[in-house]
Amino acid sequence: MELGVNIDHVATLRNARGGTEPSVLDAALIAQRAQASAITIHLREDRRHIKDADLDEIKRNIKTNLNLEMAATNEMQQIAIKNKPYSCCIVPEKRQEVTTEGGLDVYTQENYIKDFIKPLRESGIIVSLFIDPDEKQVFSAHSCGADFIELHTGAFSNSYGTEYEKTEFEKLKTSAALAQNLGLKVNAGHGLNYQNVHKMHEIDGIIELNIGHSIISRAVFVGLERAIEEMRELIL
Ligand code: PXP
Repeated sequence: MELGVNIDHVATLRNARGGTEPSVLDAALIAQRAQASAITIHLREDRRHIKDADLDEIKRNIKTNLNLEMAATNEMQQIAIKNKPYSCCIVPEKRQEVTTEGGLDVYTQENYIKDFIKPLRESGIIVSLFIDPDEKQVFSAHSCGADFIELHTGAFSNSYGTEYEKTEFEKLKTSAALAQNLGLKVNAGHGLNYQNVHKMHEIDGIIELNIGHSIISRAVFVGLERAIEEMRELIL
């Protein structure tokens, strides 16, 4: 499996003081050097971590794939088409949430999502939909014409080591298999860490894991490059 590194929390730290340290671009360059397959940034509606200028600077300076996480809004659609990241991962967004708490509900807004992703794909951007491991969401993602789904591993991660782990894990496995049968490519992420990530090897066909919080947390102690290398070793 490949490793996409989410560097939003480098921006969170920078914004805590309102200055320029730590540099988000440097984080992207280090992730690139550590062979991340993608640099993931989430441009939130409230710009709480990544800012428009970060997107511009990273896009101009990295060669690794840039994966832009964003909500399905007109503003974000225009930003994506203007900046042309390698891929866009469409996520739900609530201002009050601390992080992306659930998957995108594609099932109840199939027509809207279909229309939303069409111009993105027409401009050459690979589109992924961040969904819960739920069969009806997988079928809808396929109907919308997405290239990828990213399975939300948050429930699995929260249940890791508890009596619910097996059930949550089976949902991921079943959804990944169904998606691939339909011709969708599969990524996964959210809440994955150095302890639970080994379980992803037991799911056939996952291409890339997107991991942020645990890597940036580990980087505080061992440095970003080593934190990424350690994670890559676990998922290779
Ligand atoms: N994938 C998506 C779509 C996300 O929204 C996030 C969180 O920003 C992640 C992966 C990474 O989650 P975590 O920071 O828990 O590793």
